Amino acid sequence: MRFIPATAALLIILAGTAGAIDKITYPTRIGAVVFPHKKHQDALGECRGCHEKGPGRIDGFDKVMAHGKGCKGCHEEMKIGPVRCGDCHKGGSTH
Ligand code: HEC
Ligand code: HEC
Ligand code: HEC
Repeated sequence: MRFIPATAALLIILAGTAGAIDKITYPTRIGAVVFPHKKHQDALGECRGCHEKGPGRIDGFDKVMAHGKGCKGCHEEMKIGPVRCGDCHKGGSTH
């Protein structure tokens, strides 16, 4: 059975390389945040700016990072993308 997780991991890496990660949803208690990942790939062109250690889930990604350079900080810096609470946290719904 050991080769199965490795195969799954490889498929995830290949999917990422192909830019197949479309959207990632963070269900938070003040409303779900939908991160349009593919749109960011297309707008920013490269992975390294966000993925220092290569594509995949980011170690320690949390609220502090999201409100800093992980999401909001970049929007502030580039003067594009949502910076207000309700523009990321939608409708108080977590579905
Ligand atoms: C604007 C920043 C940004 C850019 C640019 C970006 N990513 Fe991501 N990516 C993220 C964030 C944030 C996550 C989710 C991190 C987390 O929650 O742990 C993520 C997650 C991923 C995942 C894991 C998805 C999952 O659900 O397991 C893969 C694979 C990935 N990115 C690949 C890429 C590749 C390949 C590129 C370049 C073509 C890229 N990313 C560009 C920010 C970015
Ligand atoms: C650019 C998008 C963005 C903006 C703007 C933003 N947030 Fe967030 N916030 C997130 C993301 C993404 C997470 C989830 C991080 C994680 O769980 O890894 C989050 C998490 C949270 C959490 C944690 C909720 C939980 O269930 O643990 C709270 C509370 C929160 N944000 C409040 C706020 C408030 C208040 C504002 C406005 C002052 C705000 N956020 C603005 C993206 C944003
Ligand atoms: C390195 C810079 C950078 C980071 C990090 C980043 N963004 Fe963005 N974001 C952008 C840019 C640039 C745009 C404008 C893209 C466009 O209009 O094509 C944008 C646009 C958006 C939009 C609006 C998309 C639309 O359809 O208009 C949302 C929502 C968003 N970002 C959420 C997030 C969340 C959530 C995170 C963190 C998980 C995040 N972003 C991280 C640069 C960034």
